[in-house]
Amino acid sequence: MAIRPVLRMGEPCLLKEAVSIEQFDTPELHALIQDMEDTMQHLNGAGIAAPQIGESVRVIIFGQKKLDGQINPRYPDADAVPYTVLINPVLTPIGAEVEEGWEGCLSVPGMRGVVPRHLRLHYTGFDQYGSPVDRLVSGFHARVVQHECDHLDGILYPMRITNLKKFGYSDVFFPNQDIQDD
Ligand code: NI
Repeated sequence: MAIRPVLRMGEPCLLKEAVSIEQFDTPELHALIQDMEDTMQHLNGAGIAAPQIGESVRVIIFGQKKLDGQINPRYPDADAVPYTVLINPVLTPIGAEVEEGWEGCLSVPGMRGVVPRHLRLHYTGFDQYGSPVDRLVSGFHARVVQHECDHLDGILYPMRITNLKKFGYSDVFFPNQDIQDD
């Protein structure tokens, strides 16, 4: 459908609580998800939330479709996260274990920061047809879901950083890597 402009940190739409989807399997919802997918793939993102393209609804997508065995050049070593549409998500951390890891965001281009996230997670929600989604995940998969769900509550990853010495420009922290924004 369309690659849409991604809002950057400072835009009010990124800072407010998004509203739940009440009707599934509608042309409007399918069009929104297609635009999110086109935009995420164009930018090689690991995920994207609807508020990032200016739609304040509780819809996120993340992960990769298997395209001829291609690997997302942004995360060549990451465990493969299956392509997922998740609507009205509910996250429940499992255990108290927290892991630190580097994150970037399409709405904070050119930067990276270390963010603590729950290591293990149970998440539920719905796909675009209204079918339930219910998963237990850990590690990178859990991190991506937490990052994207934060967007639905007006939270950007820099707000989660506990040590601002580990927040800065991608090409300063990773000078030898061709890191793109996500
Ligand atoms: Ni983000």
